[in-house]
Amino acid sequence: MTTINILTITQPDDWHLHLRDGEALKAVLPDSARQFARAIVMPNLRPPVSSTALAVAYRQRILAALPSDLNFEPLMTLYLTDNTRAEEIRTAVASGIVHGVKFYPAGATTNSDSGVTDLARCKLALAEMERLGLPLLLHAEVTDKHVDVFDRERVFIERHMVTLIKDYPALKVVFEHITTKDAADFVLQSPSNVAATITAHHLLMNRNDMFVGGIKPHHYCLPILKREEHRQALLRVATSGNAKFFLGTDSAPHAKHTKEAACGCAGMYTAHAAMELYAEAFDSVGELDKLEGFASFYGADFYGLPRNTGRIQLHRQNWTVSASLPFAGDSIIPLRAGQTIAWKMQSL
Ligand code: NCD
Ligand code: ZN
Repeated sequence: MTTINILTITQPDDWHLHLRDGEALKAVLPDSARQFARAIVMPNLRPPVSSTALAVAYRQRILAALPSDLNFEPLMTLYLTDNTRAEEIRTAVASGIVHGVKFYPAGATTNSDSGVTDLARCKLALAEMERLGLPLLLHAEVTDKHVDVFDRERVFIERHMVTLIKDYPALKVVFEHITTKDAADFVLQSPSNVAATITAHHLLMNRNDMFVGGIKPHHYCLPILKREEHRQALLRVATSGNAKFFLGTDSAPHAKHTKEAACGCAGMYTAHAAMELYAEAFDSVGELDKLEGFASFYGADFYGLPRNTGRIQLHRQNWTVSASLPFAGDSIIPLRAGQTIAWKMQSL
């Protein structure tokens, strides 16, 4: 096997990103825009981005926050609620700026209290999305308090995914941030309208990284890190060249004090080094040549968008991540804070 030291690939996109709003948005947006041409922007603001009108306004705030030397296209999403109407789906598609509808089970994660209480309440919206080809993006975890936190993704597949796909056979579905072998297998066995995103942190870490040597609040995210066998299964599918699996960082910034707290927020910040972290993961199994498809082609193909034409370069080069980054008068502790990453990105 020849060692690759410089990897040149088509500019990637991030198919799952939290950009927040206001000063927080200004702080994090350049990190993503430096690397990615486009990103699917999550709608879990307060209040949630639940209508096309709100998505149009949020998109304008993102573009206004973008430094003038960077190009970046935010791909907007709507937040699905029990009350989302078929008409809203038609408006969303007609707008041309909404590229997916996000399902959060009510109460599953950060700002999800207006999420869906029962998918059966969303029949008309889902049928319209199926008809118009607008993808459903799922945070696929049950919120049932009797289900162990580590089993919530697997149980969601059994209780909801199987029927969803049967009831809406042509619906484009993105199983977001998969974390288990069960989810990887489910997507592998499903038809081609079912795809998945995978984060860099779930490719690089297992649940020991949350607990060994003391509790690590900055490694707490949802869905939670799983056992090593699951990480290995994710790494296998991500690096297999299968177009159903593509990049979604789920970079989710939270101020330091809200994570280092008695009841800490879920979410890891990875946008500062997203492509470098993915490069490390792919390199760890000698599959760097599969990174371009995963990061730059398959997501665009699934969403029916043109592939990017720009290029970026990744250099095998150790560098040290800042111990902390500024965040709206506060700070964020980025993944690998104060530690090294083995790859460095350069735009061309
Ligand atoms: C996300 C956030 O903070 O918005 N947190 C996370 O742990 N991934 C919400 C989410 O996508 O679940
Ligand atoms: Zn997310």
